[in-house]
Amino acid sequence: MKKMLSGIKPTGELHLGNYIGALRNFVKYQDDYDVNVFIANLHTITFPQDPEEINKYLHDAIGLYLACGLDKDRATIFLQSDVLEHANLGFILACHTYEGELDRMTQYKDRKSKGAEGLSAGFYTYPSLMAADILIHDADFVPVGDDQKQHVELTRDLAQRMNNRYGKLFNVPEPLIQKVGARIMDLQDPTRKMSKSDQSDKGCIYLLDSVKSARKKIMSAQTDSLAQVKYDVENQPGISNLLTIYASIADVSIEDAEAKFKDYRYGDFKKAVADVVVALLEDIQGKFNDIVQTDIISETLASGKAKAQAYASKKLKLVNETLGIHI
Ligand code: AMP
Ligand code: TRP
Repeated sequence: MKKMLSGIKPTGELHLGNYIGALRNFVKYQDDYDVNVFIANLHTITFPQDPEEINKYLHDAIGLYLACGLDKDRATIFLQSDVLEHANLGFILACHTYEGELDRMTQYKDRKSKGAEGLSAGFYTYPSLMAADILIHDADFVPVGDDQKQHVELTRDLAQRMNNRYGKLFNVPEPLIQKVGARIMDLQDPTRKMSKSDQSDKGCIYLLDSVKSARKKIMSAQTDSLAQVKYDVENQPGISNLLTIYASIADVSIEDAEAKFKDYRYGDFKKAVADVVVALLEDIQGKFNDIVQTDIISETLASGKAKAQAYASKKLKLVNETLGIHI
């Protein structure tokens, strides 16, 4: 069975972009792949964090993974910091990553060009740690939103570089980026990605938002004055984003959604989008509330840790032996 692996950072509550761009796909893949998902809590501290907050977010994230349909007996769900082999290989890979490659990473370049000061070395070398997350498990596929594609490409380059230098050590993974929903946009500013780090909460629907607040956010989403429900990202980014959200949740194509709402007024269209979003949130939150009453979260992490560590420790041993770090 091919192996699939992905991680999500617990820097905030999970939102609809995470669900459509990532989580929901992990759930679908469980039937055909060996699915591995982890909470990338080491990645989180590349920027200063409130320790209590990250702890809460990661707890909620595991609960939400399960509530969204990940099955702890089929998928391996674990905490990155529970498998420290990731960090160990991260350092080894950082030693094989060129400075110029890290300089070219969009996430780093963007921050730099905006004049960010005091960026940490951990943030700069973060792509090497992400490569380690993937390579230590010999993942075949890495499902991510399109913002992460560049990091997976660097991971491929690193795998090939290590294999050329030392003989075959790593599987070369492929990014998996879905066509619809790879980038859900902010509801208030549909030219920006929906994101946990939003200044204003109005543009971002959290999976644990009250349904009332979620409905309100959709109803007040920014649109345009063209008065036509059409998928045209350039001229109608707000409407196109709502169409994408609807199509993803209702599991129909963008074309079908467009045809369905062709003659709708914006208010009625938004109401239809809000209905599917609210139904989704009710379902997820109902399951989440049951899950948090039980010990499933800690059981999931314990069995995930055991499975992930068994693989990662063997791999790290092989890498260490090959590099002459120990025999
Ligand atoms: P992050 O929240 O940045 O840790 O991202 C976790 C996963 O969700 C990654 O695979 C991202 O590419 C994906 N993701 C995050 N934000 C969005 C978004 N607005 N639209 C689609 N996918 C997203
Ligand atoms: N960098 C990813 C993000 O910001 C999270 C992540 C860390 C990840 N390690 C990974 C994703 C390995 C896929 C595979 O969203």
